[in-house]
Amino acid sequence: MEILNEIRQRRSIREYKKDIPADEKIEKILEAARWAPSGLNNQPWRFLVIKDRTKKDGLAQFTKYGDIITDAPAVIIVCMDIADSYNREKDLMAMGACIQNMLLTAHNLGLGACWLGEILNKKQTVAKYLKLDADLEIMAVVTLGYPDEDVTEGCRKSLKSLIIK
Ligand SMILES: Cc1cc2nc3c(=O)[nH]c(=O)nc-3n(C[C@H](O)[C@H](O)[C@H](O)COP(=O)(O)O)c2cc1C
Repeated sequence: MEILNEIRQRRSIREYKKDIPADEKIEKILEAARWAPSGLNNQPWRFLVIKDRTKKDGLAQFTKYGDIITDAPAVIIVCMDIADSYNREKDLMAMGACIQNMLLTAHNLGLGACWLGEILNKKQTVAKYLKLDADLEIMAVVTLGYPDEDVTEGCRKSLKSLIIK
């Protein structure tokens, strides 16, 4: 099952080569994001792509994982549009599905990505820094670039330990 291999082999990548991913690849990642499922098909996701070094380095100051942002040639700010929300709990789940689609597509295209959540501790300050509309709530920053690190196997709890008896 090829898709299972892709899912298993994807790792969070935190070190990148200097090369900037082509716009076509970034667009494919956003296309995969767009096709995520959502409750009532409300599609609450919105995306801001940042490649500008100065803007990106400024963003890095808002998280202890700032080095990953500085190193990445591109980042995608993933937002939820509160104006399009119908049920916060379900909308948040849809946002997770959307971000996972992005990570898997990046991996499939030979890119590395990392889902950064720690930055949400300062999400209001970040929104102000990025001059986002009031309806846009930041859900994650996804860093993107060509991997420049050894990829590990990863580890997960055993399937047996996850099955409820
Ligand atoms: C909601 C969420 C938030 C995360 N936040 C961060 C983060 O702020 N910094 C970071 O380096 N990795 C972050 N990660 C990546 C996880 O550390 C990583 O997915 C996990 O350790 C499993 O490793 P893998 O993705 O390589 O399989 C986050 C992942 C998720 C799903």
